[in-house]
Amino acid sequence: MSSHDEKHVERVVRLAKFIAKKEGADLDVVLTAARLHDLVRDCKNHAIESAERAREILKEMGREKEFIEAVVHAIESHSFSSGIEPRTLEAKVISDADKLDAIGAIGVARAFLYSGERGRGIEETLKHFEEKLLKLKDLLYTETARNLAEERHEFLRLFYEQIKKELHQLETEENTESNVSDDKHY
Ligand code: NI
Repeated sequence: MSSHDEKHVERVVRLAKFIAKKEGADLDVVLTAARLHDLVRDCKNHAIESAERAREILKEMGREKEFIEAVVHAIESHSFSSGIEPRTLEAKVISDADKLDAIGAIGVARAFLYSGERGRGIEETLKHFEEKLLKLKDLLYTETARNLAEERHEFLRLFYEQIKKELHQLETEENTESNVSDDKHY
């Protein structure tokens, strides 16, 4: 659980709070959703299951229906695997905050932690960069998040290009070596 641990939740809370203030979103809804957004992991649809779990908790706490529905929507729509588009500003803030924590140096670290947890290697992790991480900056909703994403995306892209270069460099050296030994036959 190290790539989706309580430290991830703390970072998402911090990012969501910053974005919510800048964008004028409801802080109570945003902070509650950020704290509860990853309640359930390792299931078919963690966003929807976390949203359901959050609904139960908030009901038990006696929160009003309107507030609960706002939080539930922000949680169920934070991951595009749920197929639910964020309709409210608060939901957009949660989606953006969670995506920001998947890019930059933290994104690199989390991607490899996640791969390690599942026994995946470097090449497979880089496929995840291509298919998902490098596209995240184009899936942000708020201007504040897009500004925060610039430096993070740039670092992600540089890391990706550098590691690709190093991987190919080794292949080229192997080829050169075999070329050299081939030369000896002449
Ligand atoms: Ni998350």
